[in-house]
Amino acid sequence: MEHTFIMVKPDGVQRGLVGEIISRFEKKGFYLKGMKLMKVDRKFAEKHYADLSAKPFFKSLVEYIISGPVVAMIWAGKNVVTTGRKIIGATNPSESAPGTIRGDFAVEVGRNVIHGSDSVENAKKEIALWFPDGAVNWESSLRPWISE
Ligand code: TYD
Repeated sequence: MEHTFIMVKPDGVQRGLVGEIISRFEKKGFYLKGMKLMKVDRKFAEKHYADLSAKPFFKSLVEYIISGPVVAMIWAGKNVVTTGRKIIGATNPSESAPGTIRGDFAVEVGRNVIHGSDSVENAKKEIALWFPDGAVNWESSLRPWISE
């Protein structure tokens, strides 16, 4: 089954949106396979966003991610990477559709509440970085009602 890395960013944690975000992924039919509240240091945040190190917003992005605890999660399910990105919405909340997490809860690109892996390959890299021990191995008893 496909896995993705989802992170509730510091603003999402501070604003009490963790439950709402988990609820949206659960209700869709995805399976929670790992979760921890973490406060990461600068080096770790820079590693997570290494692909963006040349961008003008890189420094402020890193400051934002290290400003408070984040909730790191692994979610599993059919097409969870692509569908997870749809649940999250466009990067810039001004362009995120209503009904998406960013569309419903954010206004600024630099405070957009949540991260989700943008490809299966990046999901693998991000899961390896955030969860070196891997996912929790469990099967949902409801799975046959959601997955064919
Ligand atoms: P990116 O990987 O392009 O978007 P996404 O999170 O949707 O995969 O960018 C990473 C984060 O960088 C993004 O969630 C918010 C921040 N960011 C800015 O602060 N300013 C910007 O102009 C962009 C494009 C991103």
